[in-house]
Amino acid sequence: MHRFYLSILLFGFCFLKTEILFAATDNATGQQLFDRHCSVCHSMEPPPKTAPPVLGIALHYREAFGDKTLATEYMVKFMQKPDPPLSKLEPAAIRRFGLMPPMSMSLQELKKVAAWLWDSYDPQFKTPGNCR
Ligand code: HEC
Repeated sequence: MHRFYLSILLFGFCFLKTEILFAATDNATGQQLFDRHCSVCHSMEPPPKTAPPVLGIALHYREAFGDKTLATEYMVKFMQKPDPPLSKLEPAAIRRFGLMPPMSMSLQELKKVAAWLWDSYDPQFKTPGNCR
């Protein structure tokens, strides 16, 4: 009987290890990429950390683009080389938080995290309008 529990435990452990391994490679999900590369500056919702919250960004990108592919391509370009005239946020965002630094991530990772951001849109969320 003990042996049975031991093998379950061992199996669980191996599973956990694979999870950790996967998280460290290109198989990371958009959420994991966000946690690792973006969450230091971006919170999901207000109050903001040192950048506009994700739900606000997702809302502005939904308003600016009707199409996920176009929006994510645009986001990828912005993240590679942020440029104030290209911003889809209100100008006040850059005045308040400064310009985002370029992200040195693979194209595949940038696409994945941009798609995740687009999908994070919440129709219930309205910008508090305090980004002046
Ligand atoms: C060092 C802080 C920092 C990190 C890390 C960071 N951002 Fe930002 N981000 C900002 C700031 C500040 C802004 C607002 C100013 C601007 O738009 O450049 C911003 C704006 C944005 C915008 C809106 C761009 C626009 O103006 O149209 C997107 C999209 C975005 N971030 C996505 C991400 C994603 C995804 C990651 C992780 C891969 C990330 N950011 C990591 C600071 C950061």
